[in-house]
Amino acid sequence: MKHLVAPSILSADFANLQRDVEMLNKSEADWIHVDVMDGVFVPNISLGFPVIKAIKKHTKKPLDVHLMIMNSDNYLQMFKDAGADNLSVHYEACPHLHRTVHAIRDLGMKAGVAINPHTPVNVLQDIISEIDLVILMSVNPGFGGQKFIEATHQKVKYLKQLIKTKKSKALIEVDGGVDLKNISLLVKNGADVLVAGNTVFGSKNPNETILHLKESK
Ligand code: DX5
Ligand code: ZN
Repeated sequence: MKHLVAPSILSADFANLQRDVEMLNKSEADWIHVDVMDGVFVPNISLGFPVIKAIKKHTKKPLDVHLMIMNSDNYLQMFKDAGADNLSVHYEACPHLHRTVHAIRDLGMKAGVAINPHTPVNVLQDIISEIDLVILMSVNPGFGGQKFIEATHQKVKYLKQLIKTKKSKALIEVDGGVDLKNISLLVKNGADVLVAGNTVFGSKNPNETILHLKESK
């Protein structure tokens, strides 16, 4: 499978959100990555339902919603109603992960599980065949524009192996610090989806940068 690129809306200009979403619509972006932070699980607060609904109104691209919040179970239906296509929760924030991922699927969304940089891939072994997506965090979640953690390359390899062993169909998404230099090795090692915030929105020509990320081999 050719890798997918998911620009992170966290790095967009929130005062010109419609403009930035329309730029993504015209680009080669596959998904729009939407980071939801609650100020409890992570030391930052980002955006919530009204903003997700506003994005949904202006795009047909799938919304890839990444929850960095506690008590996700209370809000799954609301994220569905706001327009989430993929909904990922954190392993570290979900004591009843199996129930949570099935509730996400029952609502008709693709279910993802995100793991922090310190969390080993093998904690996913008993859930990997029941999820659609794993988000490997390649920075500590909470902020855009951070430095890529190199150990992620090895985790992509481990995860690819686990997916194969368990005959899972889960996609591997790498989130944080992805740029035009590290993307090739990530793809080579098995990453299917690359999130990019600062690399896209911090560049002179975001549209062209997305194309370069798509064309990386
Ligand atoms: C970090 C978020 C990321 C972030 C990526 O907590 O989950 O999705 O927006 O941004 P960059 O690509 O700038 O690291
Ligand atoms: Zn994210």
